[in-house]
Amino acid sequence: MPGRFYVTTPIYYVNDAPHIGHAYTTVIADALARWHRLVGDDTFFLTGTDEHGLKVAQSAEERGVSPQAQANANAARFRAAWDELDISYDDFIRTTEPRHHTAVQTLLSAVHDNGDIELDTYEGPYCVSCEAYYQESELVDGCCPIHTGKPVVRLAEENWFFRLSRYQQRLLDWIETDPAAIQPEGKRNEVLGFVRQGLDDVSITRTSLDWGVPVPWAPGHVFYVWYDALINYATAIGYGTEPERFTTWWPHVHHLIGKEIIRFHCVYWPAMLMAAGLDPPHRVHVHGWLLLGGEKLSKTVHGAARLTDIAPARLLDDFGVDGFRFHFLRDQSFGPDGEFSYEAMVARYNADLANNLGNLLSRVTTVVDRKCDGIGPAPRPDSPLAAVAAEVVAATSAAWDAVAPSQALEATWRLIREGNALLEAAEPWKAEPGPDVDGVLGDALEVLRLVAVLASPALPSTTREVFRRIGLDGSPTDRVLPEVAAWGGYPGGRPVEKGAPLFPRIRTDA
Ligand code: MSP
Repeated sequence: MPGRFYVTTPIYYVNDAPHIGHAYTTVIADALARWHRLVGDDTFFLTGTDEHGLKVAQSAEERGVSPQAQANANAARFRAAWDELDISYDDFIRTTEPRHHTAVQTLLSAVHDNGDIELDTYEGPYCVSCEAYYQESELVDGCCPIHTGKPVVRLAEENWFFRLSRYQQRLLDWIETDPAAIQPEGKRNEVLGFVRQGLDDVSITRTSLDWGVPVPWAPGHVFYVWYDALINYATAIGYGTEPERFTTWWPHVHHLIGKEIIRFHCVYWPAMLMAAGLDPPHRVHVHGWLLLGGEKLSKTVHGAARLTDIAPARLLDDFGVDGFRFHFLRDQSFGPDGEFSYEAMVARYNADLANNLGNLLSRVTTVVDRKCDGIGPAPRPDSPLAAVAAEVVAATSAAWDAVAPSQALEATWRLIREGNALLEAAEPWKAEPGPDVDGVLGDALEVLRLVAVLASPALPSTTREVFRRIGLDGSPTDRVLPEVAAWGGYPGGRPVEKGAPLFPRIRTDA
């Protein structure tokens, strides 16, 4: 049943260049968007950049450029990185755009009008890297609990406060009545624990800087960067300007976030939406960190040199765009932390792409060339692989629906293995041309067709090339599931092309 799927990544700070940690979330969001388009869902995929706030303003100052110039340059780098990685975003939002200023002012004015934003004074420990106040009890040796060893600063400001404390019960009701709203379950429990402790009101404006969206009712104040940033998810679908478009997409959203920004997305953001008279988000999917030598991969924590070493582009020479995407989808489970290692990336690439998929394609195209004059035969309707294929389609779909890309690809690769096993058992390369050889090769071509469809969210360009090499017109994504995944879709009688390996093996002895 086609539905509606709105997926978002966090919007990335423009004080930093894109690195593979950002790419991780973005590639997963992209694959999910592609999967949902494949099943025929109306899909909207949003990413973008977070351009205001103290951290961004300070880093621009250190570089001797204006915050706007820095934002322009780095937003362009994010966009270029995503274009290079074949990220099929529908919109790239920048928080310095006029449309976003309008949405922020409209949404927060609605909360103000409802009486949930009031003037007050706040004093407390503040981490500039997080752009967040902490409780004294949360500090670790006087330092930020997230940025290990980074001292906090004391801030005291008379600010406008969002009365978050009034939303404790409504937040609990939301999380308790919709147990899937925050995933995985461990993260849901973390949020429940935090909300049950009771919630402090939060300061949502600043007078100490002017790099932000002005507060319409309080000259000299700008909105605190997080309250500006979160609203991007509403801006991009027309909040405040295109009411019909907004209600088409909201609240059918799936937010993908790293675990360090869970409070913003699972407590402050839903409460703010409720206060503005809107529904909380449909789903928040929280993932762990990509670690390098046990440390989070992020410039503010890590040495810049090591991080710049792994800008996405650095890995593309070795793995190609699809090889890069595959690694982050297949090797890193969505949810827990995962260690990034070049060696593991090579091992997985060689095993799954160069060997399993690459072998199947090269064997089939070579033997069709030799035994069938280069014309691909049709699959057998009663093939032993038909039932396997149906199971694989079901398992792949279930895993993508559950936001488990690694399991989805594992399920799809079962079909590749079974296709290779069929060939190894039948050895068509040793047999005389005839109906038996045609049957086996037809089945293997059908496996390739199905794999090209099912793996298209992960490998968009190589699966198009598989289609072309087995003689099919168009692209694996031209038709939607489930029809396109029914056994027997390969028509036979098509010219099949041998070609260079799609995923040349990476030598590990060099
Ligand atoms: N600007 C805020 C988000 C605002 S959303 C309304 C922000 N930006 S960020 O540039 O720091 O990006 C953080 C996000 O990047 C993480 O939540 C995660 O999605 C991704 N990652 C950054 N480093 C990462 C790892 N080392 N591992 C996994 N994801 C990483 O926070």
